[in-house]
Amino acid sequence: MSSVVQSHDNENIVWHTHQVDKAYRSTQKKQRPCVLWFTGLSGAGKSTVAGALESRLAELGYHTYLLDGDNVRHGLCKDLGFSAEDRRENIRRIGEVARLMADAGLIVLSAFISPHRQERQLVRDLLPTGEFFEVFVDTPLDVCEQRDPKGLYKKARAGELRQFTGIDSEYEKPLQPEIHLSAGEHDIESLVSICIEALRKQQVI
Ligand SMILES: Nc1ncnc2c1ncn2[C@@H]1O[C@H](COP(=O)(O)OP(=O)(O)O)[C@@H](O)[C@H]1O
Ligand SMILES: [Mg+2]
Repeated sequence: MSSVVQSHDNENIVWHTHQVDKAYRSTQKKQRPCVLWFTGLSGAGKSTVAGALESRLAELGYHTYLLDGDNVRHGLCKDLGFSAEDRRENIRRIGEVARLMADAGLIVLSAFISPHRQERQLVRDLLPTGEFFEVFVDTPLDVCEQRDPKGLYKKARAGELRQFTGIDSEYEKPLQPEIHLSAGEHDIESLVSICIEALRKQQVI
């Protein structure tokens, strides 16, 4: 069994191990499942780089799934708002989904601001050692603010949007990300190549 077996407070709920397990699926797919967790400010380029990387991986024949920010709020996390508690629950659910998808044998990419170290650590702890890759999309705030594709920084500066990361809510930079992208200085293709190189070095692909 290669999966992390989760415990439950209720002793009547017991983990059932199945024959077709993660190792089996991984062999079948000829790939090492993992989670590539993109983090960074709004507008940093998380969705763009994760999407371009997913396309490159798909071209190379890998099986992937990209979990992206706002999309999960339409369904899985529809009932959640933006309070500290709800943000934490949002990330916890996404982490659990990412874990299930990695268990299904996929290379999972996720693109959420995920501003707090503690919540990123929570997801890291859900996965076996070596399967969580923190990808820091490190774009300076002024570059993100200039891009402002959704007009959110403008709203935040005008006080129409509260608790906006980078403006009146802190972004805690990763201390030791597995992949660090100076994303304000490179084009998308170069950033994708840096990721591919790192994944080859770590023997994910
Ligand atoms: N490396 C880059 N160079 C130039 N523009 C970029 C780069 N990465 C992203 N962008 C642009 O910045 C904007 C925000 O990117 P996006 O991926 O939506 O950010 P995020 O998902 O982090 O909020 C988009 O308009 C995108 O085209
Ligand atoms: Mg995005």
